[in-house]
Amino acid sequence: MVRACKGFAGETGINYVTPMTTRPILIHPDPRLKKVAEPVGEITDKIRVLAEDMLETMYAAPGIGLAAPQVGVGARILVMDCVKEEGAPARPMVLMNPEVIGSSDDANVYEEGCLSIPDQYAEVTRPSEVDVRWLGLDGEIHEEHFDGLWATCVQHEIDHLDGKLFIDYLGPLKRQMITRKMQKLKREKARA
Ligand code: NI
Repeated sequence: MVRACKGFAGETGINYVTPMTTRPILIHPDPRLKKVAEPVGEITDKIRVLAEDMLETMYAAPGIGLAAPQVGVGARILVMDCVKEEGAPARPMVLMNPEVIGSSDDANVYEEGCLSIPDQYAEVTRPSEVDVRWLGLDGEIHEEHFDGLWATCVQHEIDHLDGKLFIDYLGPLKRQMITRKMQKLKREKARA
């Protein structure tokens, strides 16, 4: 899908009009989802276009987070928007080279899913609050405290940059069951 878009103005630093495109999302198992992604150096136009496309792809899915390896790019970039309230303004975020610099002792259990593992959900335990530092598209270093769904989402997406999926937190039987379902799904898609 290609469409003209006003761009995501404001904190993402994307404020010009460009065509935006959704990119195909890789489905587990795929070796590109298991690789550790490379840090972003210079913020080039290619990076800006990738970030826009990732937001477009995430919203279209629909999802609340997406990491570059999921669209086959081995760069440490993630996008997210966990605003769920009806009518609340969207908050598209682009985080490059994100790092968890602090996490709470208390944990939270969330039923997680993943755009690379469609229609599969499982409870994952993670710190309930985290402090994250990242490079923004504006070239500045940002720091923010996340809790609730945002905390779960940002940790899930940072895991993607380290080649880790939420099913890696599950027991081997559950993980194998889900992996087999995904292999079957991929075979069906390939035939279609
Ligand atoms: Ni995911």
